[in-house]
Amino acid sequence: MDWSSTLLLLFIFFIVCIILNYIKIFKEKATLPPGPMPVPFLGNLLQLNTNDIVSTLMKLKDKYGPVFTLYFGPKPGIVICGYRAMKEALIDQNEVFGDRGEYPVFLNFVGDHDIAFTNGEKAKIRRRFAILTLRNFGMGKRSIEERILEEAHFLIKEFKETKGSPVSLTSYLAHSVSNVICSIVYGNRFDYNDKRLKAITDSIFNNFSIMSSMWGTIYNMYPDIMEYVPGPHKKMKKYFQDIYDITEDFIKHHEKTLDPKNPRDYIDCFLIKIKEEMDNPDSAFYIKSLPRTIQNLIFGGTETVSTTLRYGILILMKYPEIAGELRTYILFYYILYYMLYIIIILLLYYYILYYYIIRVRKEIDV
Ligand code: HEM
Repeated sequence: MDWSSTLLLLFIFFIVCIILNYIKIFKEKATLPPGPMPVPFLGNLLQLNTNDIVSTLMKLKDKYGPVFTLYFGPKPGIVICGYRAMKEALIDQNEVFGDRGEYPVFLNFVGDHDIAFTNGEKAKIRRRFAILTLRNFGMGKRSIEERILEEAHFLIKEFKETKGSPVSLTSYLAHSVSNVICSIVYGNRFDYNDKRLKAITDSIFNNFSIMSSMWGTIYNMYPDIMEYVPGPHKKMKKYFQDIYDITEDFIKHHEKTLDPKNPRDYIDCFLIKIKEEMDNPDSAFYIKSLPRTIQNLIFGGTETVSTTLRYGILILMKYPEIAGELRTYILFYYILYYMLYIIIILLLYYYILYYYIIRVRKEIDV
C-alpha cells in the first residue's frame, strides 16, 4: 500500500471515529442535563479557563441553570452550582448521589481503601467511623473546640510577630488549620517551624494547584497515557508520599505506645478498631486503610477550611462596616454571657447563704 492510500485510510478512520463519538455524545446528551456542545476526545476542555475555573462555571450556570453537563474529555460530568442544588443533591438525596466518580488524580496516587474516593460498603463503614470518631473527640477530654482555641492563640502570636507588616495569609492559615486536624489525627500539633508541617501543607497546596490546572484535568481524562507524558502532574506522587511518610512514622509510634483503654487520637481509635475486628476477614478496618483515611482527613480538612477563612477575611476587609457590626455583636454576646455567669454565681451564693442561715437559726431555736 502506498503513502497516499495509507493517509486516506487513516483519514477515513479518523472521520469514522469522530462520527461515532458524536453519535455517542448525542445519545448521552439526550438523557443528561443541558450543557455546551463538546468536541470529540477533548470534550468541553477548550471552553474552560482553567486559570479561573469558577468564573467560567458561573457563566455557564447563568446560561444553563444550576445543574449542567460538562464533558471532561470523553466523560460527561454533572456540575452542581449553588447552595440549593448542592443541598438537594448531597444532603436530601445523599443515597442517590453519595457514590464517588472515578477521580484518577487521587485514586492513582493514594489507591483505594480510603473514605473519600472509594465506593462500596467498606468505604461507607469507614466514613461513618471517621465521622463518629471526630464527633466523639468533640465531646471528649480535649474537645475540638479547645484545640481550635489553642491553635488560634498560636496564630495570633504569629500575626503579632509580623508587627503589622503586609504578609500573605495563605501559609499562616494553612499551618494553623492543618495543625488542628493533625492534633486530632496524630495527637499532637506541630511548631510552625516544624519541617513536617511545612511538608504537609506544601504537599496539599501544590497538589491542589496541579489538580486544578490543565495538567490535572488532562490526567483525569487520560490517566494511562499521561503516565508516560512529562509534566507537573508527575510531581503529585511525591507530594502524596510526603504526607504518607509522616503518617507512617506516627502510626508506628502509636502501635508501640497504644493503650486500648485510653485512646489519644484518631490513630489510636482506628488501631483499636482493627484489633476488635481482627477475626473478621471482611473487616473494613485494616492497617493499609489507616494512612489512606488519614490522608483524606488532612487533605479534606486543610485546603477547604483555610480557603474559606481566607475568603472570609477578604470579605471582611472589603466590607469594614460589616466587620464592625460583627465585632459589636460578638462583644455584646461576650458581655451578656459573662453577666449571666456572674448573676448565676451570685444567686447560687445567696441561695447557699440563705440555706445556711436558716439551718443555723433552727439549731439555735432547738
Ligand atoms: C469549609 C470546609 C469544608 C468544605 C467546603 C468541605 C467540602 C466537602 C465536600 C463537598 C465533600 C463531598 C461530599 C459528598 O460527596 O457527599 C467533602 C467530603 C469530605 N470531607 Fe470535607 N469539607 C470541609 C471541611 C472538611 C474537614 C474539616 C474535614 C476533616 C476533618 C473534611 C474531610 C472530608 C472527608 C474525609 C470527605 C470524604 C468523605 C465523605 O464524603 O464523607 N472536610 N467535603
